[in-house]
Amino acid sequence: GAPAKVDISKIEPGAMLTAAWRGKPVYIARRTQETLDNLPALNSRLKDPDNSVKEQQPAYADNIHRSRKPEFIVLLGVCTHLGCAPKYFAEVQPETFDANWQGGWFCPCHGSRFDLSGRVFNGSPAATNLIVPPYSFEGENILVIG
Ligand code: FES
Repeated sequence: GAPAKVDISKIEPGAMLTAAWRGKPVYIARRTQETLDNLPALNSRLKDPDNSVKEQQPAYADNIHRSRKPEFIVLLGVCTHLGCAPKYFAEVQPETFDANWQGGWFCPCHGSRFDLSGRVFNGSPAATNLIVPPYSFEGENILVIG
């Protein structure tokens, strides 16, 4: 399939857009510095904080940000449990979820939770982190998926 090119220049910090690649949704979120700074503190609550399942991300995203550029996270919008589309929450939702969750993705089908790097929380039915598809940048503003 052809690569998908997405202009990411209009994504505000904290916001996400959904692109399409090979018939699947691809989530592109722009993280704040606060979000990035919070990632290490979540490690003890995650099933695979250190990306030990190498198939879930390309080598250049095998880092705590799970990305090429820290501020942008690129994920397949396909739950690693049974394939539903997880919903994005930029911030903690204390009325619905436990207050320690720093936001990320919540799967409405069976309740899996992922952080803002797509890392799966303990207690989720999903076993592995969300998949980072292959991607690159053309200049500052164009993300090329595939
Ligand atoms: Fe997402 Fe089951 S498909 S939790």
